[in-house]
Amino acid sequence: MHWKPKNSIAIVTGASSGIGSSLSQLLCQAGCHVVAVARRAERLEELAGTVPNGSLSTVVGDITQPETRSRVLDVATTQGDGRLDLLINNAGIGAIGPFSDASPERLRQIMEVNFFAPVELTRICIPALRLGRSPVICNISSVLGHRAVPNKSEYCASKFAIHGFSDSLRAELACDGIQVTLVSPSTTRSEFFDSLIDTASDSSSKSLGSWSPQKVARSTIAAIRWRRSEVVLSLGGKALVYADRLSPPLLNAILAKSKA
Ligand SMILES: NC(=O)c1ccc[n+]([C@@H]2O[C@H](COP(=O)([O-])OP(=O)(O)OC[C@H]3O[C@@H](n4cnc5c(N)ncnc54)[C@H](OP(=O)(O)O)[C@@H]3O)[C@@H](O)[C@H]2O)c1
Repeated sequence: MHWKPKNSIAIVTGASSGIGSSLSQLLCQAGCHVVAVARRAERLEELAGTVPNGSLSTVVGDITQPETRSRVLDVATTQGDGRLDLLINNAGIGAIGPFSDASPERLRQIMEVNFFAPVELTRICIPALRLGRSPVICNISSVLGHRAVPNKSEYCASKFAIHGFSDSLRAELACDGIQVTLVSPSTTRSEFFDSLIDTASDSSSKSLGSWSPQKVARSTIAAIRWRRSEVVLSLGGKALVYADRLSPPLLNAILAKSKA
């Protein structure tokens, strides 16, 4: 059965900008009630002003904190009489620069936001998802969770981790009727590159084109509706993933050269 937004209850993390904000808007417009979480209260207020009245609840907080995650679940299950139909783990951060120059804190922080927080939120949401309608857990990963590149070691590690977690959980939860959808965008024109942590100001990211957050959000919702297991977005992203499957040594050599 397809996942349907109308009268559904969804949680969207990282809803104050970029992909999460667009996902929240599209879901609310389609008749879903969204519980939106992020740290910036004013941005969540702005988001609330762009969606139909009563379609959005906001939780201001840091998703790495257990209390924030519990509050999010409480708000969602109160709204949904105990059930949850969709969990989108979208909040994420990144960094650019060689691993050998980076602090241990950079790795910790990225893994906390991109891996431990979504995994622990998923853990507490599973009982409510079991009561949901065609329930879906959607993890926003990255094409860099399929093929790692230099100077983003911590970010790639966090996205490979969520990829592995998603594949394992999908098989575990199949008997409960809960789908796990892994979405892997390529470069997206959001605030992501303005919020990089522990990164030199002259660092930049190479990419083959970019998508708008709205386009990523539309493709993500299509993947959720069809309860897909995995989607890699953008031609550049697909090319990178397939080139890696065809010849990892060739891609290793190209990436090592491009770094030099
Ligand atoms: N942009 C890209 O090129 C790209 C490519 C592939 C994958 N992705 C993935 O797409 C997802 C969304 O990124 P985006 O491009 O939309 O970037 P973005 O505009 O920077 O949005 C990131 C969101 O995460 C939230 N967030 C960060 N740390 C948080 C924390 N500790 N607690 C709660 N919320 C937190 C931010 O809100 P607050 O700051 O208000 O807390 C913000 O709403 C991420 O998982 C990212 O890895 C992005």
